[in-house]
Amino acid sequence: MSAHDLIDTTGWHPICALDAIPVLGARVVRTPDGDVAIFRNEADQIFALRDACPHKQGPLSQGIVHGQTVTCPLHAWKIDLACGEAIAPDQGCTPTYPVRVQDGHVHLHLVSLSPVAGS
Ligand code: FES
Repeated sequence: MSAHDLIDTTGWHPICALDAIPVLGARVVRTPDGDVAIFRNEADQIFALRDACPHKQGPLSQGIVHGQTVTCPLHAWKIDLACGEAIAPDQGCTPTYPVRVQDGHVHLHLVSLSPVAGS
């Protein structure tokens, strides 16, 4: 069975068990729309953002998670995990994706129904 076979008709892609994402860490999922970073904070909240800082495309998945924010590893911009917006005074926005946890598993919803590659 391929990952594509697991996509349900609503467009939710099963990614991994919640416990496969470290607390205060991230897991990167390769998609046809680019790499998506799925973050988990200390409250077990899950967020999905494109793995590219709005400043100079730094890998947000390697940043430091605190509360609902991640600090970019390159130049320390702080990005709101819920909306993808840079915290002032910095300006910019990273795309976010709907993500959910169901029965202990993380599901990602991509706007297109393209299959997830190499999750
Ligand atoms: S690339 Fe993220 S702060 Fe510069």
